[in-house]
Amino acid sequence: MHKVTSEIYTENNHISEKLGSGNAVTKFAFKCPSYMIEAQSTTQTLNYDSDDDVDIDRDREGVIVIEHSLSTELNLVGLQVWRAALLLADYILSHPDLFRNKIILELGSGVGLTSIVASYLAKEVICTDINVGGILKLIERNFLRNRTYIRSSYHIEEVNFLKLEWSKTLEEKLQSADVVLAADVIYDDKITDGFVRTLTKLLYTKKKKIIYIALEKRYVFTITDLDTTAPMYEEFLRCVEKYKINWSADYINIDFPHYFKYDRVKHLVLMKIQNNTRPVMYA
Ligand SMILES: C[S@@+](CC[C@H](N)C(=O)[O-])C[C@H]1O[C@@H](n2cnc3c(N)ncnc32)[C@H](O)[C@@H]1O
Repeated sequence: MHKVTSEIYTENNHISEKLGSGNAVTKFAFKCPSYMIEAQSTTQTLNYDSDDDVDIDRDREGVIVIEHSLSTELNLVGLQVWRAALLLADYILSHPDLFRNKIILELGSGVGLTSIVASYLAKEVICTDINVGGILKLIERNFLRNRTYIRSSYHIEEVNFLKLEWSKTLEEKLQSADVVLAADVIYDDKITDGFVRTLTKLLYTKKKKIIYIALEKRYVFTITDLDTTAPMYEEFLRCVEKYKINWSADYINIDFPHYFKYDRVKHLVLMKIQNNTRPVMYA
């Protein structure tokens, strides 16, 4: 079977340690935003500089420790960490007011890195994926490994884009979210169709919802087009046009501060989708 490996582990000197299980544990260092340093300072003994000002280490680094697979078959890519997860984590850290005290739902969350970062600010994080390869248990282990950054309640649950008959309890849970996150879930046409239908269902509500989608346009050369195209991204845009009812989609400029260490390559995309708060009927 063909295996795929994320480029993240070899970029930027991340420190990884192999576990007996074959998984690795990688330390993802990030530059602490000022509000995180200030929050830590209030719980620690303060140092003062020669002018009697509080001495704050502005270059302080934090570390998110993540257990993951090093390479997987395509159906288990959620067991790895992908670049879009770090882009979305950077966006959260650089726009704290958009996420503070919110109920945040992450779809296709993989090993949970973005949800863990979100839980520093959120009121509640609902972290979801399909339950293959023990992924939900792995997310739980990663939340426990990063207790110092978990400041919200959290809930880990299976949400499968291809099974949209939710129980009433699950529907209520998912619809409680103010903000929805998804990183790198656009890589297979069938999953993309299910993902956009999931968004349509989530946006069909009177509650205001904002969805942030980070993805990598993966370019390929096709003989048919005699050019490089990003077919999976184009399929995503087609699905958005097909299912879009009462919502609008915009692009976010990705020049916000870089907290994590990864290559912010130019084919990374961050989209914002939001609903009109008066839903219309759809078939
Ligand atoms: C490339 S990984 C991205 C994981 C993580 N968000 C990241 O960026 O590191 C794609 C994610 O989509 C999830 N996924 C695939 N099929 C799915 C489905 N039918 N329903 C929900 N999630 C699915 C995978 O399990 C995986 O977590």
